[in-house]
Order: sequence, then C-alpha cells, then structure tokens
Amino acid sequence: METSRRTVIAAAAAAGVAAATAGTAHASGAGGRKPVKELFGTLADGTKVHRWSLENGGTRLKVLSYGGVVQSLEIPDRRGRYRNVSLGFANIEDYVASSPYFGALIGRYGNRIAKGRFTLDGTAYQLSVNDGENSLHGGAKGFDKRVWDVEGFTSGSDVGLVLHYVSGDGEMGYPGTLRATVTYTLTRDGDWRIDYAATTDKATVVNLTSHVYWNLAGEGSGSIYDHELSIAAARYTPVDSGLIPTGELAKVAGTPFDFRRTKAVGEDIREADQQLLYGQGIDHNWVLDKGITARPEHIATLRDPSSGRTLKIATTEPGLQFYSGNFLDGTLVGSGDHIYRQGDALCLETQHFPDSPNQPSFPSTVLRPGETYRTTTVHSFSA
Ligand code: GLA
Repeated sequence: METSRRTVIAAAAAAGVAAATAGTAHASGAGGRKPVKELFGTLADGTKVHRWSLENGGTRLKVLSYGGVVQSLEIPDRRGRYRNVSLGFANIEDYVASSPYFGALIGRYGNRIAKGRFTLDGTAYQLSVNDGENSLHGGAKGFDKRVWDVEGFTSGSDVGLVLHYVSGDGEMGYPGTLRATVTYTLTRDGDWRIDYAATTDKATVVNLTSHVYWNLAGEGSGSIYDHELSIAAARYTPVDSGLIPTGELAKVAGTPFDFRRTKAVGEDIREADQQLLYGQGIDHNWVLDKGITARPEHIATLRDPSSGRTLKIATTEPGLQFYSGNFLDGTLVGSGDHIYRQGDALCLETQHFPDSPNQPSFPSTVLRPGETYRTTTVHSFSA
C-alpha cells in the first residue's frame, strides 16, 4: 500500500518536472495541483531527504523535509521573468556541512538565549550552547537540522505542505515533549503563508520562525544594499557585544535603525554606530508597533528597484529580526553556482524577542500543557 502510494507520487513528480521544464506549468490562480515529491538526497545515517515542489498564483516553492528548508522560491519580475530569490544549496551535503540556516525552520527558540540558561517555575535549565557562550536558534542541533514528516495537500484554491516534528523532552536542554506542526500554504494569489503550532507536556519556552535569506534580484546576483525596506516599528532592542538584548526598547528615531520611512538597506549600514559594530551590520530585533495580534498584520515591505520584485510581510508576532547577511563571507557556493558574500541577502524573521526567557518585561514565550502555541506569517509578492 505504502509502496504503491509512493510510486504514484514519484510518477506525479516526474510529470510535474517535465511540465515545468516545458514552461506549461504556470498556475492559473484557480487552485493548484497537489505538491509533488522527489528524492533530494540521503543523510549519513541512511535517512532519505525529500524535496517537495509546489506552485500556485505565480509563486513556485521547493521545500526539503530536512529542516523544512525552502530550497528555492521563484517569483516573476515586472516583465514576468522568474528568479529564485532565496539563498540555498544544490545538494543535501552542503546543507548538512555548512548551512547558516538557509531557508530553514528555526526552533525551539529563534535567536539567542543568554548563556543558554533560563529558569522556569523555579527550575533552572541549561541549553545546548552553540554561539560563543549563548544558545542560538535552538542549539547545536535545532529544528533546522531535523528531518520533518511532510504531507502535501490541496484545499479549495490553496496548495501546501504540513510539516511535523516531535522534539523529545530534554532535547537540546529544553523541557517537555514539544509537538510542532508547521503549515506552508501557497494561496491562489501566490502568497506564501506559514502557520506555526505547537503543544507541550511540560512547561517550556517556544519561539519558532523561518530563516529565508532574501535577495529579490535573485540569489547569487550581488548585494541587497539597494533593496528598499520599510518596517512599522518605532523601537528596537539594542544588544550587548554578544548580541543579547540589554532589555531596553530603544527609539529608532535618529539612528540607522529607523526604517519607518522606506530607505535603502545600505543607506546607513556603514555609520560608526556601536550597535552596527556589534552586529557587523544589522542583526537586531524590531519591536513592531502593532504588538501581538490575533490576525497577521502588515509590518514590512522589501523591494528590489531593479526587478520591481516586492515582498510584503504580515504577521501575528510582536518582533522582527532583521539580519543583513553579515556573516556571509565568501566561503559558500550557492544553488546557482555563485559565491555568497557579505550582504548578498537579508533575513526578516518574524518572532518573539531574543532572550525573552531571561527578560521579564518582554512578551512571554512560555508554553504550558493544555495550551496551543499559534503564530502566522504571510509573505505576499508582486512586481
Ligand atoms: C540570525 C542571528 C544572526 C546569525 C544568523 C545566521 O539572524 O541573529 O546573528 O546567527 O541568524 O548566521
């Protein structure tokens, strides 16, 4: 039974690839086809990693079962020319060996927890430390390095994937068995929506996000300093030299962090500002004006003037980590066979604030048994 189902999927995958190559697979906007699955590679322990391809409303997405990684996201420019606008690799070996979270799902905790320590209900926990003395993006083997169970679906005019991962009690030092479900949906308008959900059997902390590296001119095409960005936030969280928030919610007014009015990403990035020195550029959390919302609300717009490609982000989350690709250093070769250098992409990670478990004044990231963690982020594209 299982074998025959796989055979059908493989045949569909082959047909899908052939159609895409022939240029006949453009989505009509009237609802897409079921996502197709193919083998992408095999991990050292023999685990197979699959790649799922889906398309709807003019957006084409390729997702790996490894880390829920967006391996490719193609959108058209103002003349209808498609480019992959997300940094990534061509093979699984590179993802395992050296990915700086390219396109990945991040968990259990997006960004840093100071010294990998926090206390919850009187119990002290020590997490996996993997960034100096701190814990970054869930520790040494976070959700970005786990193989997720993935199922494709179609629903009305939507197509998508449901990804599941069960993180055991104590994994990377976190308490409680966390059952995470992430749904990637491509809508008939070509929006890419991410719905995150999680439950736990012991009190724990959770902060899930997605670590796509955007370059709207196309991955490998050069720097993003000419991209224009706006962020609806009057405050951000300044950091110390280890990139841990000081706890202050500082005003962006009069600083390089003021993106309330659209400006080029590179405009102020070389100012001799202590915060930019700490991050080697921008690597900070913005305190979104809207706060936590029940429904996703628009918080940021990124536009590449050369191609016209525009990304709008809406979220239920209270924070946005804007990272300007500072640690890309010319040592990685990407999926399009180009070297990635500093500033060749940027990340816009919707989230709760870094180090919230140690910052009582920040919105809480605690999840308790009986509760369901739910957040949503929507990426809309135009040109
Ligand atoms: C996040 C962090 C950065 C860096 C990147 C990945 O954006 O805030 O400091 O770790 O991920 O390199």
